Amino acid sequence: MKDIYQDVDVTAPAPESEPMRQHYFIAKNAQIIRSESEAAGHTLTACVKTFGCQMNERDSEKLRGILEAMGCVLTENEEADLVIYNTCTVRENANLKVYGRLGYLGGLKKKNPHMKIILCGCMMQEPDTVEKIRKSYSYVDLVFGTHNIWKFAELIHDMYESRGLIIDIWKDTRTTIEQLPTQRTYPFKSGVNIMYGCDNFCTYCIVPYVRGRERSRTPSDILREVSKLASEGVVEVMLLGQNVNSYGKNLPDPVSFADLLREVEKIDGIERIRFMTSHPKDLSEDLIDVMASSSKICPHLHLPLQSGSTRLLKKMNRHYTKESYLDLCRRLYDSVPDLSLTTDLIVGFPGETEEDLADTLDVVRQVQFDSAFTFIYSKRTGTPAASMPDQIPEEIVKDRFDRLLKLVQETGAARSGRWQGRTMPVLAERVNDHDSSLITGRTAQNMIVHFPADPSVIGRILPVSMDECKGFYYFGTAVEK
Ligand code: SAH
Ligand code: SF4
Ligand code: F3S
Repeated sequence: MKDIYQDVDVTAPAPESEPMRQHYFIAKNAQIIRSESEAAGHTLTACVKTFGCQMNERDSEKLRGILEAMGCVLTENEEADLVIYNTCTVRENANLKVYGRLGYLGGLKKKNPHMKIILCGCMMQEPDTVEKIRKSYSYVDLVFGTHNIWKFAELIHDMYESRGLIIDIWKDTRTTIEQLPTQRTYPFKSGVNIMYGCDNFCTYCIVPYVRGRERSRTPSDILREVSKLASEGVVEVMLLGQNVNSYGKNLPDPVSFADLLREVEKIDGIERIRFMTSHPKDLSEDLIDVMASSSKICPHLHLPLQSGSTRLLKKMNRHYTKESYLDLCRRLYDSVPDLSLTTDLIVGFPGETEEDLADTLDVVRQVQFDSAFTFIYSKRTGTPAASMPDQIPEEIVKDRFDRLLKLVQETGAARSGRWQGRTMPVLAERVNDHDSSLITGRTAQNMIVHFPADPSVIGRILPVSMDECKGFYYFGTAVEK
């Protein structure tokens, strides 16, 4: 990838068309970074910190790819010369975290004249946030949003060419730019965006406002990317979108998600296919069939329920009922052997009653999720739910949350024990954080297992005996083939 930037003529004006224009700015920035590094007495370091979901994780890999191509040394340490926060705004506490960290960054910047602070991601799509940064955090150097992230190289160039805060936020976009560098966190697994944005407008959710309208990448772009990843040694891909089940509907030649999976499955070298997130309302019979017959698609489905109450689901604009969700889970369990189901739940949605909570608890008991993320409802300005009557007082929500969490943990722990004694294929992912004689890996169901092995097995899928369940993870032993 690096070579293409070396051939760029940086004395010529910037090309108009993409991605050549960004390649040009990468090459131009490489010169800037070189001279800044000379002035600083060391090669400039860059730290990208990610808040939020897998979508943001993937975007951060793209930012790192561009920074690396420009000649920066990547680091995890926030005491770096370029610090980039890729932000989330799905719940209020995601925002608070960023403001908290920004104060700390301001202190670091006083000590390092070469430091640049850059903010991007979902939070920046909210006008109030940008106003607050302009007023109270004026030491920030660059702010951009989710729709123009592919312009990162050009924005960095603008930042170094001018003084003062640069802000570039787009309201929406139809564009998706291909062929920019990325720096993958893992050599053996990778996220792959298959679509951007969301059109569902669940009434509590800010994502459609900050990520814009749903746009699917073409199957050929996706398949090209996955084939390239496979050729680089990637064995597991995670197909990413806010609602992968509606993939392809708006393409000029419509394609279903199930059809896309059939094509991805054909790519040699890819051994595991995951995807996220599935919206229950769009999960087709065809998808269940593909999952049931595939040897590569992992038997794990993250299927956000949000609430078990049909009455609340209607107010949330989710387009399914308690009964249809239960029925869907039944059909999935019947068709896909050894399936693991996980979910997201929200407590304290406006107007929630004890009966509504009882419905949610009931679904949790019936479905037996392997695990669930439980969230306290967070009011997001601009969403329909924010102006609904009967916002629930904090003490009541806290009590309901505790009860739900307790049930989720009990059922999850009991459910997770079902693999004990089985030998299962495990992708070895990393050396264990606490004990370096252990390797940490995942089964296809996404269950974590720690087992003694040499780090040379990392990146391989090997049979592991699931010896002892510890609730949400296992201790195991690798089994010789
Ligand atoms: N597109 C995915 C989820 C994206 S956001 C889907 O539809 O399932 C991830 C999770 O955050 C959601 O599933 C929901 O449980 C939670 N969430 C979203 N908005 C929220 C809010 N305002 N308050 C609390 N939790 C919220
Ligand atoms: Fe938010 Fe609903 Fe879209 Fe998920 S499907 S991102 S919860 S609006
Ligand atoms: Fe957060 Fe944006 Fe993801 S708001 S959850 S980072 S799409």
